[in-house]
Amino acid sequence: MRLLKELIDNNREWAAGVTARDPSFFKNLAEQQTPKYLWIGCSDSRVPANQITGIPPGGIFVHRNVANIVVHTDLNCLSVMQFAVDVLKVKHIIVCGHYGCGGVRAAWQNQNLGLISNWLRHVQDVGHKHRALIDSIEGDDAKCERLCELNVIEQAINVSQTTIVQAAWERGQELAVHSWIYGLADGLIKDLKMCVSAPSELARTYNAALESLCTKSSK
Ligand code: CO
Repeated sequence: MRLLKELIDNNREWAAGVTARDPSFFKNLAEQQTPKYLWIGCSDSRVPANQITGIPPGGIFVHRNVANIVVHTDLNCLSVMQFAVDVLKVKHIIVCGHYGCGGVRAAWQNQNLGLISNWLRHVQDVGHKHRALIDSIEGDDAKCERLCELNVIEQAINVSQTTIVQAAWERGQELAVHSWIYGLADGLIKDLKMCVSAPSELARTYNAALESLCTKSSK
């Protein structure tokens, strides 16, 4: 209970500070939100979208789940995406994974964690798809980190192939899908160089991003 009181106290202090700096901040924000970005990231408590991008409330629409997975039949994720694209008209969808992802590691090690192992099966599918690329790397940790990267790229492809994004591109709406990965150890975001803003770019960008990972592994 004491801990929760601390959270409420923190909130009062935060709200008072924001209001002191900008008396109309909450009033303006309550009237509308116009975020330019949709963030699809991991639920991991160490990867908070707003803080690591320096974006205040109102700037980023967020969906998070374990291991930042985008499944074609996940109504939750699809609904977030549809609202963000069709109603809020975000300009960018960022899929951001992170190194040291517990979900990806559990998938990599084939751990049985109960229900969630079914969810993480999607990450194992990514691993199987890119077996050769992962096998070409030395060391278990490095292989797992590569799977973190590949998972982001594959989930960004899944985003790009949804009816939501395809329809937006078809009607000429400005919309780009990005693949990023965050380092827990240094707090830095790395662009995995797969930015897609039209269906015609999809295959080329995907191949280039994979090629870039291959080049990295041969160094
Ligand atoms: Co994670």
